[in-house]
Amino acid sequence: MLAGIDKLNFFVPPYYVDMTDLALARDVDPGKFHIGIGQDQMAVTSITQDIVTLAANAAAHLLTKEDKETIDLVILGTESSIDESKAAAVILHRLLGIQPFARSIEMKEACYGATAGLQLAKDYVLRHPGRKALVIACDIARYGLNSGGEPTQGAGAVAMLVTENPRILALSDESVALTQDIYDFWRPTGEAYPVVDGPLSNATYIDSFVKVWQEYQNRYQQDWQAFDAMCFHIPYTKMGKKALLAGLEGVDANISETLLTRYEESIAYSRQVGNLYTGSLYLGLLSLLEHSENLVPGSKIGLFSYGSGAVAEFFTGTLVAGYKQHLQKTAHQELLQNRQKLTIPEYEALFTKELTNENLAKNSDQTPYRLVAIKDQVRYYQE
Ligand code: CAA
Repeated sequence: MLAGIDKLNFFVPPYYVDMTDLALARDVDPGKFHIGIGQDQMAVTSITQDIVTLAANAAAHLLTKEDKETIDLVILGTESSIDESKAAAVILHRLLGIQPFARSIEMKEACYGATAGLQLAKDYVLRHPGRKALVIACDIARYGLNSGGEPTQGAGAVAMLVTENPRILALSDESVALTQDIYDFWRPTGEAYPVVDGPLSNATYIDSFVKVWQEYQNRYQQDWQAFDAMCFHIPYTKMGKKALLAGLEGVDANISETLLTRYEESIAYSRQVGNLYTGSLYLGLLSLLEHSENLVPGSKIGLFSYGSGAVAEFFTGTLVAGYKQHLQKTAHQELLQNRQKLTIPEYEALFTKELTNENLAKNSDQTPYRLVAIKDQVRYYQE
């Protein structure tokens, strides 16, 4: 029996900044952000959107009544937790109306968390025929105003319904994971922003890809030729390309060209959104499926997941017959187009706005799920 991604959707907050505006405000050549980093727009959240609301907005439209009655597992992969103890997935479980006899948990290992969730979900549905799992990758990537990482911020969620006989991507059992204790990017408890060693994080990402890819080739006796496309974790769109180019050294020019073209298709959404941390790899997958005319049922896709700290995994999946009918390209393009562009002063005001009930009450965000109040440390949501 096969298991994998049956439904796939993303949600981004309704605001963004243009990277030319940000570059000019920071006295940087816009070419650095657009070409050097590879970002055109950056999603910005208001205080009314946290990981619960972003995740609920991504998942709500995906689920039918039957899905809600058969989901046994709700897994939220995130590194933007709102609580040290209670999992955001528990709140999400209630907001989405999922049947009560379910497990709801949060998974953390930087940008890798959702991949661990996806593998757990896949194994669960294989062992429990007819049952389903909901995996959501959701984050708000913040490095701070005027910081080195500022142009690589972003926010949003990707929701995946994992089932047997999936209608989009069947996941194989082929996978290679790698753990290395490295301080390239981390966020000590209580800190608003991560501590980042930019050059080390770039180097560790590439090194991790090369290691898992080599091990994959040895273990499964497969090489580049076996793949129709490769998706990467996308902290900024240039990063995955650097790793891909490192891996493609010495590879046949036609194969390289095909994979680089597929890579460009996989970053179309990320260029307009920025880093989703846990969600970036899956936004890349969605972008690839919704932009590529060259993929067909049976096409094999490699996925490279990377979480600083560091855990990486290379795993694979195969497109299922009829997968295109289960994508929502028009809705996704409308979601991106209907966002409001912020000036840099507006972005800075939103970024620094204090999370108080007074500010929540004044907010004009009309997104279906949103935070409306915090009383006695309990968060209340518009549902
Ligand atoms: N026109 C075109 N390109 C330009 C340019 C211009 N005018 N000016 C500079 N560039 C190019 C540079 O040549 C460089 O290209 P290469 O990387 O190909 O050499 C690129 O723009 C970036 O320039 P810098 O290296 O000087 O940029 P920086 O010092 O500002 O740092 C960064 C960039 C390290 C990504 C920083 O934004 C950062 O720390 N980001 C957060 C950490 C991160 O995303 N790390 C990625 C791996 S970790 C991970 O994947 C987990 C995660 O999600 C965080």
